[in-house]
Amino acid sequence: MKHIAITGGAGFIGSHVVRLFVTRYPQYKIVNLDALTYAGNLENLKDIEHSNNYFFEKVNILDTAALQAVFEKHAITDVIHLAAESHVDRSIVSPLDFVYTNVIGTVNLLNVAKDKWKEDYSQHLFYHVSTDEVYGALGDTGFFTETTSYHPNSPYSASKASSDHFVRAYAETYHLQTVVSNCSNNYGPYHFPEKLIPLFINNIINKKPLPVYGDGLYTRDWLFVKDHATAIDTVFHRGKINDTYNIGGFNEWKNIDLVKLLCKLMDEKLGRQQGESEQLITYVKDRPGHDRRYAIDASKINTELGWKPSVTFEEGLSQTIDWYLQNTEWLQHVTSGAYQHYYESMYEAR
Ligand code: NAD
Ligand code: TYD
Repeated sequence: MKHIAITGGAGFIGSHVVRLFVTRYPQYKIVNLDALTYAGNLENLKDIEHSNNYFFEKVNILDTAALQAVFEKHAITDVIHLAAESHVDRSIVSPLDFVYTNVIGTVNLLNVAKDKWKEDYSQHLFYHVSTDEVYGALGDTGFFTETTSYHPNSPYSASKASSDHFVRAYAETYHLQTVVSNCSNNYGPYHFPEKLIPLFINNIINKKPLPVYGDGLYTRDWLFVKDHATAIDTVFHRGKINDTYNIGGFNEWKNIDLVKLLCKLMDEKLGRQQGESEQLITYVKDRPGHDRRYAIDASKINTELGWKPSVTFEEGLSQTIDWYLQNTEWLQHVTSGAYQHYYESMYEAR
């Protein structure tokens, strides 16, 4: 009987992982442990919130006593750790927030798990969810593999790299059983509209400018969030202890090409003239330290564990746009209030 604490379960990826585990494993107890920052939203989980095996605990991972209490109350056997500050642009403005949650919060959580599970580490798993951004930037060719050396360039990726190292150190030093996965850029439903795809979907709906950073030729490798959730399920149950897995869809897009595809699909779905949304594209000042290209070699998880993505990018993007067009209330809720202030401070000076 597993009692799994999923941290960051009210966020974008975390909510998909919680939903998958709650529905696929009714025999497990799933505890969503989340501080509900601007990025955490219980509306993301409305459809499963009354499930018998689902519990929510509003806890900050920096709060040791509160973490200990949750481990005690729910007899936590395993952790899937997604709670983090996750947006690169915010990390450039407020790097310390990223050090607190991503580094100190992770070490705090590791400490609590280490102490609570000390009777027999072999019965427990600490799964740390990380990013491909820890590897830094690629040139025009090549891929990140699990043995690529870490070379983080943003405060966000530096904080995630640091947390990855701490997880590894706890496995070596204290014999905590761990596993780490490093995934490429996710997209899909419930994505907060500060990241490229949901921000541009929201701006296209509202006929607002589409702020493309720099020359628009930066490349990202995109994975549908539900496929990331199934990869996490696979690694959680079948990954090799103390190993790492890269997760990605072999799906590279230059930002400007992706934005043009998004405009085309949205013009079709909104019944607008072809080319109308493309006119909203506006080149703006580049992000400092902007990584040129990310690309994941996901062959290890494919050959060792048999995982592969279930949808093509066009299918996933189309499903994502449909979801945003059908969930206008969700979008309105998350873009009211503090979001407006964020948007002005981040974009009006560019
Ligand atoms: P998100 O920003 O949407 O959600 C983060 C969640 O963590 C929110 O629910 C927030 O309330 C919670 N949280 C933040 N600080 C907390 C704290 N101190 N205590 C408790 N909860 C806290 O992030 P996401 O995009 O869902 O990313 C989840 C994880 O996956 C992160 O660790 C991120 O680094 C990693 N990741 C993200 C991507 C991506 O494309 N979004 C890709 C690879 C890896
Ligand atoms: P983002 O979604 O922030 O993810 P990450 O920086 O973690 O890869 O950005 C994806 C790409 O899109 C990245 O190259 C930066 C670029 N971008 C823009 O051009 N304009 C924007 O408004 C945003 C948010 C991102």
